[in-house]
Amino acid sequence: MRSLVFAALAGVTVAFVSLASADAPRSQQVGHGARLFADYCAACHGDDGRAGAGYQTPIWGQGAKIARFENAMGLFEYNQMMMPFDDPTKLSDEDKWAISAYMLANHGTIAPTAELAPAAAAAIAIK
Ligand code: HEC
Repeated sequence: MRSLVFAALAGVTVAFVSLASADAPRSQQVGHGARLFADYCAACHGDDGRAGAGYQTPIWGQGAKIARFENAMGLFEYNQMMMPFDDPTKLSDEDKWAISAYMLANHGTIAPTAELAPAAAAAIAIK
């Protein structure tokens, strides 16, 4: 008996993570944060912030605990005091603001084209 096998192409699932990528319009600050993230954070957190050699939980987007920082100031202060984990003094406050802006753009809290101003940060809620 002859049987026909229909190989149906299963819908290819693309895990789509929205990143404030270099191709999309983004502010200077967010672009600077993206470059710093690649250099100082990605080794432990992954290029896309989803998981890396140092930490297996996403740090933005779905599954992240980023809302526990409550607002952009809370996130900045954590990054300022704690990250990069191997030496939090490596980067300036300005750099930490840029990285925080990049993280919040990827999380969808701010537009990738926005600048995160320290004076406004406490009023920017993270959900
Ligand atoms: C050497 C590895 C390493 C590097 C480099 C590193 N991290 Fe982390 N990161 C960790 C670890 C480990 C934790 C968990 C710390 C804890 O639970 O106390 C963490 C936690 C975090 C968290 C909190 C995550 C959560 O689930 O609440 C944030 C935000 C974060 N890192 C941001 C950064 C940023 C931004 C950089 C770059 C400036 C960076 N990290 C660089 C290892 C690293």
